Amino acid sequence: AALVEHTFVVSQMKMHHMCNDSLVTLVNGQFPGPTIEVTEGDSVVVHVINKSPRGVTIHWHGVKQHNNCWADGPAMITQCPIPPNKNFTYRFNVIGQEGTLWWHAHIGFLRATIHGALIIRPRLGPNSYPFPKPDQEITIVIGEWFDMDLFELYEKTENRIYGDIPLSPTINGMLGDFNNCSGVTEDSYKLDVEQGKTYLLRIVNAGVDKAYNLKIAGHKFTVVAADANYVKPYTTDIIAIASGETFDALVIADAPPGRYYMVAQAVQTTEPITQKRVLMSRGIVSYNPMKWSGDDTLEIMAPELPDWHDESPSFYFHGNLTSLLPQTVPSNIDEHMFMALRSGYNCLYGGAPHCTVTMINNISFQHPSTMSLLQAHYYHTMRNISSLLEYPIGPPMLDFNQTRTATATLVKKLRYNSTVEIVLQGPPGQMSYTNPMHLHGHDFFILAQGLGYYNPEKDVQKYNLVNPSVKNTAHVPMNGWTVIRFVASNPGVWFFHCHTEHHSSSGMAMAFVVEDGPTVETTLPPPPTYYPSCGGQNSIVEY
Ligand code: C2O
Repeated sequence: AALVEHTFVVSQMKMHHMCNDSLVTLVNGQFPGPTIEVTEGDSVVVHVINKSPRGVTIHWHGVKQHNNCWADGPAMITQCPIPPNKNFTYRFNVIGQEGTLWWHAHIGFLRATIHGALIIRPRLGPNSYPFPKPDQEITIVIGEWFDMDLFELYEKTENRIYGDIPLSPTINGMLGDFNNCSGVTEDSYKLDVEQGKTYLLRIVNAGVDKAYNLKIAGHKFTVVAADANYVKPYTTDIIAIASGETFDALVIADAPPGRYYMVAQAVQTTEPITQKRVLMSRGIVSYNPMKWSGDDTLEIMAPELPDWHDESPSFYFHGNLTSLLPQTVPSNIDEHMFMALRSGYNCLYGGAPHCTVTMINNISFQHPSTMSLLQAHYYHTMRNISSLLEYPIGPPMLDFNQTRTATATLVKKLRYNSTVEIVLQGPPGQMSYTNPMHLHGHDFFILAQGLGYYNPEKDVQKYNLVNPSVKNTAHVPMNGWTVIRFVASNPGVWFFHCHTEHHSSSGMAMAFVVEDGPTVETTLPPPPTYYPSCGGQNSIVEY
């Protein structure tokens, strides 16, 4: 196994999009940021040098971080932000995972511009892929360009003020010709292919807000991995990717030579956020030698897209995923949890016209302000966090009309190696929306999903206990539910939250505190030296 070393310099740079210059925070001046490529079993060392005026942390999304919670990265959950003009080095191993993951800033909305792919190849080389060896591998990072200062946006969300979030989707940092302002066309992502060749697309939805439908006119995808776990090959003309998810898919260039649009279109459910236009980025797939030459007269084939409010392609796409190999799903459940995911209006926070909080079981999560939860756990000072609340505060609440909410730092203690099942219930009805729920430090089994209210008697019969997909981000369908199960086998504090940032920032989050196991290998080690501490101007976010 090798040592893969990177230096991430975080700084502000000017970028020009949508007729505006904006100051954005980037890693090494790149949008998206650098790709980390490793072989399974490698050790990764990333030196983060913060030259930006605000604190930053980096999270390695989907990396299991066994016994290494200190390197996980969510601000105020595992660590305090790295202050301006300070450095911090993240060290972790990538073991037992293959496929595509990613990394991103984990503080406020900074991940909108601070993110990149993390590619994990098998030890035995590309001949050992459990699918035909591709001729080429291509990374596709779907992102979002915000026509707004991200700190302003974060403050708005923190203060529970919703409104239009002006964004334009990007493919590998490019807005595409679909997005223009006063006649100025933005560059499109371009992929040149050769007839008959097979491409492995490593697809990341790094967007902070939307789920996307990805299509390439005239081509099909065969999905082979999800969240760095192999799935039973599944052929589809659409990839429905929620925020935080990653998929590996084979595409064969078997269409007549020509040019084809690759479209990432945002799915916009009927949430009160009213984006008034279709949001998409269009890339172009060109067959050699017909490389894109700027000749607009050559027709580019466009894919047929579902209605931009239609969530059903995503429901079916996720419902069709199964793991490649049979799984051993633990059957003795120690903790049955029910989480009602919802939003509500609560104008106690500032009295703005739209004051929305999101919550789990009517608790809107509050980040601690003086010390990270992990540090508090390690130093046995958890009780000093005044807002700490242990889950649950009462019986699971199914009453989605209830307006009473509490703000608290919601945590749930788990015994080492306990098996947890969570019913994730999304809000019912026409005004519903999807919630991609992401767990740090563990993968989980997706046992079932359904529409409407979860029914404990009937719906257990739908569980796939044979070959469920194994993921770190669960798509909870609009007006529906998803059941996940996992073993809490990793000591530390692990964030569990909606990956839609305005949900997470406004409270749809909680943290699991997994206690130490019986051996040294299952005991949380001490923090690394020079671990960032909070206080003073370090904490960039005023909670
Ligand atoms: Cu990708 Cu807690 O996040």
